[in-house]
Amino acid sequence: MLKFLGPLLGRMHPVLVHLPIGILIFGIVLCFFPQREKNTFLPAIRLAFLLGGIAALGAGISGFLQYQFEGFSWEDVRIHLIGGVLTALGSFGLFFHFKKRDAITPKSKAFALGLGLILMITGHLGGNLTHGESYFTEVLPPELQSFFGIEIQPEKGPQLTEESWGEAVFYSEVIQPILNQNCKSCHNPRNKKGELDLTTLKGLMTGGEDGVILTAGDAQHSELFSRLILAKEDEKHMPPSEKRQPSKEEIALIETWIKSGGKANQTLAEAGISRKLIEPFIQKNEVSFYPTTQISAISADSLAQLKDYGFFAELIESGSGLLKITCTNFPGFQDSDWEKLAHVKNRIAYLDLSGTQVSDAILDSLTGFSNLTVLKLNATGITGNSLKKISQSPNLKLLYLNKTGVNLAQIQQLTSSQSLQKVFIFDTPASAEFLDSGKLSLPFLLETGNYQLPKLPTDTIVY
Ligand code: HEC
Repeated sequence: MLKFLGPLLGRMHPVLVHLPIGILIFGIVLCFFPQREKNTFLPAIRLAFLLGGIAALGAGISGFLQYQFEGFSWEDVRIHLIGGVLTALGSFGLFFHFKKRDAITPKSKAFALGLGLILMITGHLGGNLTHGESYFTEVLPPELQSFFGIEIQPEKGPQLTEESWGEAVFYSEVIQPILNQNCKSCHNPRNKKGELDLTTLKGLMTGGEDGVILTAGDAQHSELFSRLILAKEDEKHMPPSEKRQPSKEEIALIETWIKSGGKANQTLAEAGISRKLIEPFIQKNEVSFYPTTQISAISADSLAQLKDYGFFAELIESGSGLLKITCTNFPGFQDSDWEKLAHVKNRIAYLDLSGTQVSDAILDSLTGFSNLTVLKLNATGITGNSLKKISQSPNLKLLYLNKTGVNLAQIQQLTSSQSLQKVFIFDTPASAEFLDSGKLSLPFLLETGNYQLPKLPTDTIVY
């Protein structure tokens, strides 16, 4: 019958805590208050710490009940609870301390200050529990927030994958993220503008101060949608015009979700959503083409020196430690000139030696290139005999051997490469052999430059 007393007393905690706070601060202030005679305030101080201690005890008990009945986690409340116990003990301690004394000594003041500190910390932690840690900081202007080092994490919106977007749950993986991104700042349990909480389906279904905002199947009569398409000047337009506005796809998705019944568990495929509507939310795996490295950017001096040698040298992108080097203006480059590049070999991601004097021997030097991703050896003396060596470059993706002497058997030696994506063999013995070979399958693409299709058996039929 009286079972409700525990939870009720627990819920009184946020009210009751103010009692010890007020009484104890009064006591602490009195300890420092200038007074004519040394001990005029002593009786009041004693009383303050006694009453404060009793109030702290009561608040502590109600707090413990709240923790028991309201589903707070022990990790969250632990330090706050210990602080509460210390506050109560400290108050009684000070009461006994002053009981035995007839003057306020510096030591007494230090004790009082210590209690004040514990009180502040405990109160602050309690505030964090009910209002959230960002209660004060979230109302600061963004510049101030970043000044204090508070990271403002923008809400991400829907994030779907190419392979499985159809199976994504319409509400939880699309609609809720859209609401989080556009509406949550004003419609959450702590900040419920219009009495509306849009952070959960339950809150959404409950509606706001004007009642329900969703009529399943009827978007026009659902405020959740109709407010979004009001003219921006309309004061009922949501979100308020100075705020981030949802994109037209986001609005269309909210509309479709309502029209399809505003269900909790329906998937995008079940709701018949088109790929086009969902396109902006599909994550593209942007794997960068060049390797990501820790190498710091090259010094301007070293770069200038490479240019002096006659190379064209630049960073593959600003801030990168990797280089793109071409020999367009250095046609005399030969195997022995390799020395000039040796000191930057781990930086070279793109190397174009096309049209230079290099021979098969250069491949020996190139095997140590850990970041080499694009290698152009077009129109050089490469015969292909030692091509296998290049397959050991761990990041090589594109290899250009146009107008060289390579044959198909040599190209097949490259199959041990784990990274190679494309090999260009325009105008080589290999390209002709490849076209004749029929269905030779290789782990990389061969660009033969000869866009005649390989001969099909049907081609030989004479009409
Ligand atoms: C900058 C704050 C802010 C943002 C962001 C915001 N709203 Fe509101 N919203 C309000 C305020 C203030 C009210 C109450 C005044 C009113 O009804 O127009 C309100 C009221 C509403 C109501 C009416 C509730 C009722 O029952 O009266 C709906 C529906 C609503 N908002 C939907 C949205 C949706 C959907 C989004 C996101 C797409 C959104 N709001 C974003 C501030 C905001």
